[in-house]
Amino acid sequence: MKIAFVGKGGSGKTTLSSLFIRHLATTGAPVVAVDADINQHLGVALGLTEAEAAALPAMGARLPLIKDYLRGANPRITSVETMIKTTPPGEGSRLLRVREDNPVYDACARPVRLDGGAVRLLATGPFTDADLGVACYHSKTAAVELCLNHLVDGRDEYVVVDMTAGSDSFASGLFTRFDITFLVAEPTRKGVSVYRQYKEYARDYGVVLKVVGNKVQGQDDLDFLRAEAGDDLLVTVGHSDWVRAMEKGRPPRYEHLEDVNRRALRLLHTAVDATYGLRNWERYTRQMVHFHLKNAQSWGNERTGADLAAQIDPAFVLGEGVVAPV
Ligand SMILES: Nc1ncnc2c1ncn2[C@@H]1O[C@H](COP(=O)(O)OP(=O)(O)O)[C@@H](O)[C@H]1O
Ligand SMILES: [Mg+2]
Repeated sequence: MKIAFVGKGGSGKTTLSSLFIRHLATTGAPVVAVDADINQHLGVALGLTEAEAAALPAMGARLPLIKDYLRGANPRITSVETMIKTTPPGEGSRLLRVREDNPVYDACARPVRLDGGAVRLLATGPFTDADLGVACYHSKTAAVELCLNHLVDGRDEYVVVDMTAGSDSFASGLFTRFDITFLVAEPTRKGVSVYRQYKEYARDYGVVLKVVGNKVQGQDDLDFLRAEAGDDLLVTVGHSDWVRAMEKGRPPRYEHLEDVNRRALRLLHTAVDATYGLRNWERYTRQMVHFHLKNAQSWGNERTGADLAAQIDPAFVLGEGVVAPV
């Protein structure tokens, strides 16, 4: 199951992603955590020291390796240079699985030990100014998008992405790559404006979008979010002393997280699992082709000097049953 946490900077994406990852770890489920936020804080939120977090390999810097591995023996993708962030898999491509070991995880993932068990953590690496505009070619999230487009995840396997709701995720289609998107919103006008923008983009793509209210203090906050988000509001989280203790560098054990917040995380988990039945790999594949053609036309063909539409394998549908070469 692929899960994104998005929202305004400071809303609590990283905090809630990290708590949800800790929750999943206690259930024993395999988890791949991905830090794709502008401010790379997920490692520290999962308990790494600043030095350990800074030493995480940047996926952005390993893009050639990732592309070369995923390309495999796909005859339609003739070189790493012509493989862009939206290049879809086809016959001969290598796929990724949550539980396996593979060269991409070897190069980019590091294990993080949590109370429940270890998870794999990957990080895009810090964003620069060039990453924040449309910046298609240099997009820091390119590696994440490629990995998600080549990933076949089953039920009870989780990929959790802490992500910025930036223009590059809309231009590329990254925002459509998830079973569910949790939009973290504080009960403020700015907080919900990101929700409205996201909903607008999401509408035509069948994106399952749920609002998670954060730093909600009382009935008035709750009423505000309810009025703004309606049925999209899934749950709210209040101030957490556990999170504060964590921020002070004194990480408590997960079991000491406030009951009410543990319950909220279980609710997120239930909401994630409920989307399994809505999965449609055919649509998932069609959407990656759609965004690939869009990117090919708007910059990719010109940049690579190739006709990138030719990379599309019309007969290929990603799915749990697809057997890829090793
Ligand atoms: N529920 C909460 N209780 C206490 N502090 C919180 C809570 N949610 C977020 N914070 C704090 O707010 C700040 C911003 O949160 P963060 O998760 O880094 O936001 P984002 O990733 O969206 O930029 C951090 O200092 C974090 O510890
Ligand atoms: Mg963050």
